[in-house]
Amino acid sequence: MTPSTDLNIPLFERAKAVIPGGVNSPVRAFRAVGGTPRFVKRAQGAYFWDANDQRFIDYIGSWGPMILGHGHPAVLEAVQKAVLEGFSFGAPTEREVELAEEILSIMPSMEMVRLVSSGTEAGMSAIRLARGATGRSKIIKFEGCYHGHADALLVKAGSGLATFGNATSAGVPPEVVQHTLVLEYNNVQQLEEAFALHGKDIACLMIEPIAGNMNFVRASVEFTRRCRELCTQYGALLVYDEVMTGFRVALGGAQSVYAQAIPGFEPDLTVMGKVIGGGMPLAAFGGKRAIMEHLAPLGGVYQAGTLSGNPVATACGLATLREIRKPGFYEALSASTRSLVDGLKAAADAEGVPFSVDCQGGMFGFFLMPELPQNYPQVMRTDSARFNQLFHGLLDRGVYIAPALYEAGFVSAAHTADDIAATVDAARAVFQTMR
Ligand SMILES: Cc1ncc(COP(=O)(O)O)c(C=O)c1O
Repeated sequence: MTPSTDLNIPLFERAKAVIPGGVNSPVRAFRAVGGTPRFVKRAQGAYFWDANDQRFIDYIGSWGPMILGHGHPAVLEAVQKAVLEGFSFGAPTEREVELAEEILSIMPSMEMVRLVSSGTEAGMSAIRLARGATGRSKIIKFEGCYHGHADALLVKAGSGLATFGNATSAGVPPEVVQHTLVLEYNNVQQLEEAFALHGKDIACLMIEPIAGNMNFVRASVEFTRRCRELCTQYGALLVYDEVMTGFRVALGGAQSVYAQAIPGFEPDLTVMGKVIGGGMPLAAFGGKRAIMEHLAPLGGVYQAGTLSGNPVATACGLATLREIRKPGFYEALSASTRSLVDGLKAAADAEGVPFSVDCQGGMFGFFLMPELPQNYPQVMRTDSARFNQLFHGLLDRGVYIAPALYEAGFVSAAHTADDIAATVDAARAVFQTMR
């Protein structure tokens, strides 16, 4: 494909004239890796086709939601039926209740749930609820964790324990983030010191239990245990942001993975998105009844939404959850993901390219470095020029991974052994150029 025949290029030019940066969410713009974003025409199963009708094996899956692959027949049928019944009512529906019941039956830590339309909205609402329920202002987040773009959460780098965050976006006044304490992921000592200093003022600790916004970094079992213990000791709420990991790393999310290692382990609140809507704008937050009852109209914490619990989105989410609950779903998904990461690792090793990789369920991450990083500064040591070489090498060979080195990847149930073998072959060919 030459630039003169690439139909993505004129589309991107048109887009840039009318949409800031040509995209409706920044990472889509390929700024980190360079080049022209692929404009998607359609998608089916494990693939999408761009403006040139070139096919790509898709390892983003809309950044996580498409766990069944694109256009799953049962989901399509449910959505088509729902559309004919009406797009939006602004009044309660039985389907919302069904979806809430379905979620609660999967997530033992949740006794009540509220449906919203995006992960950002869910995270923002969970913070307000935690503050309202505890009567405290401060929150803890971790460097490298993304919880959506609510003002108070747009803080990345804390330069030390007692230092409250500086906003990482223009337009967020310092007063808005003055109560956000940013700590290093997986640093138990810093966590303990933070609680010792501020514990009585902390409303909640919010964390991605397996961080997918600094590629793929697991919280250690010890760190996870201390997060729970310190929250309990100081009366702060433990909030798990499972927008990415929920229904993705296991049916019961990352919390079900940690529950195997830590007896009695449960967060107080959980934030969910992505898979829960199966590709439609749907997200949720929920947890213990006593906390959730602080929400309006029962309690004094206001939260609302014109499109919350949208009937088409809930149909899509319900149909998706019913598919992923089927016996053997996660065993097969995990095996596919495992064969992908093992294949990539073997190919990199054979070509002498430093490479480390991790996965859980249908989510994976790899690093062009020999050891898996434990926190954001370590992730950022990745050589971005080499990552970009790998990204474009794969793209040229019809494999679409996230266009930034600090993003996780996603395998769907639609990815076949042949898709994975083709991906590993493409990676091997690129690794040969990277020795
Ligand atoms: C862990 C996590 N939390 C929250 C969000 C925000 O979700 P949304 O993009 O639906 O607002 C994301 C988005 O990628 C996420 O990965």
